[in-house]
Amino acid sequence: MSKQSKKSARKNPVSRSGRFSGGPAADVAQFTESISFDWRLWKHDILGSMAHAEMLHQIGILSKAEVRAIVRGLDAIGQEIAAGKFTWKPELEDVHMNIESELTKRVPAGAKLHTARSRNDQVALDMRLWLRDEITGLLGEIAGLQRVLVALGEHNSEVIIPGYTHMQRAQPVYFAHHLLAYVEMLERDCERLWDCHSRVNICPLGSGAIAGSTLPLDRSLVAKLLDFVDVAGRPQITQNSMDGVSDRDFAVEFCSVAALLAVHVSRLSEDLILWAGSEFNFIKIADAYTTGSSLMPQKKNPDIAELARGKTGRVFGNLMSLLTLLKGLPMTYNRDLQEDKERLFDTADTVRSTVRIVAAMLEHTAVNHAACATAACDPALLATDLADYLVRKNMPFRQAHHVVGAVVALAEQTGKALNQLTLAELQSVDKTFGKDAPGVFNLKTAMGSRNIIGAPGTKEVAKQLARWRKLLS
Ligand code: ARG
Repeated sequence: MSKQSKKSARKNPVSRSGRFSGGPAADVAQFTESISFDWRLWKHDILGSMAHAEMLHQIGILSKAEVRAIVRGLDAIGQEIAAGKFTWKPELEDVHMNIESELTKRVPAGAKLHTARSRNDQVALDMRLWLRDEITGLLGEIAGLQRVLVALGEHNSEVIIPGYTHMQRAQPVYFAHHLLAYVEMLERDCERLWDCHSRVNICPLGSGAIAGSTLPLDRSLVAKLLDFVDVAGRPQITQNSMDGVSDRDFAVEFCSVAALLAVHVSRLSEDLILWAGSEFNFIKIADAYTTGSSLMPQKKNPDIAELARGKTGRVFGNLMSLLTLLKGLPMTYNRDLQEDKERLFDTADTVRSTVRIVAAMLEHTAVNHAACATAACDPALLATDLADYLVRKNMPFRQAHHVVGAVVALAEQTGKALNQLTLAELQSVDKTFGKDAPGVFNLKTAMGSRNIIGAPGTKEVAKQLARWRKLLS
């Protein structure tokens, strides 16, 4: 190296070495850096580099001693980062160059590590590795929330509440049945996450900057070392180098699945907020999981549930940002793609912490049996059962619907509850009503007779609770 080029190599980040006469202007460096957020990828960056180094050794580019020194060096850097002792340098732009440059300072063979690798395939790899772990973590949190919902249902298995449509009391359901509806939603979220995982779990390393490499890389080996394998243990490798470096579909898919998960948690939160209010009074959230008002001394607010509902906004926004980011992007890697990380990180962090705190809150929530019983004993909830009674007596349903409508009107006119009408009054509307008609309003019997699959009947709900308990154990 000439004196001149040695000087320039010292002043410049590696990406500018040789070609450039100096480092970037300070405001350019500040505008383009990503280390302030992509440092989070350090563990996966190191794992990827170790696998790449091992592969370079297998194909004869690194000696045994060199690969050992590199792995040892990376390991030491990893430990320093984990201990918070590593100094990130913004002038080195990103996590990839920070780690590589520090390694090369300590281990001369570090200068060979970037052989046949670009930050373009490196960052795609790191993000896939990172997201794979995040998905596993999130699946665990969702299962935790499902378990809490099932447990709350089991502990309150006798509790019946009105089910609502249009926010109007409709028909009685077990409280557990209502909670299990969310367990079903969350299960679909898990299925979607696994499906998304199958496309995250594909190794892009070896795509280079855009066009692979002239060197005989063993991509299958790297994939196997990093556990990019299918259920049969076959390596999963991207099949087009251009797609390998520019694809962010996996991030969009995750953010989309996460957005729907956020919708589900938000809907659950909305129910909890309503139930915690004095108008419903169905549940009591423990003090530790509620907040007070700075002005009104009597207040106990369900802020966790409100924030869980509110955070849905940013999760939707992140999805929209990513879609917009990709929409007009020409092939292949463009620096725009650096904008993907904060959106992805924010979505992963938000849904994970939200699912976790909502589960913790539900673990500290008690059900007010008396208030639920009062609401559920409204006989109007069983008007449909009364129509079914007439259907059993061979009346066409449309006619039965009309007759019960007239019964409801009569109750309203006489200022009576439905179950207070005498048999004579019922028969004044239609002669089909017999002595057994008032029996329809026995809530326990009513719940006992909803036994088809998926219905909120006594036996069926117990069966579903047992099914979920087993599935989630
Ligand atoms: N920090 C960059 C990113 O997050 C890494 C890739 C940079 N590649 C490049 N050719 N400038 O996208």
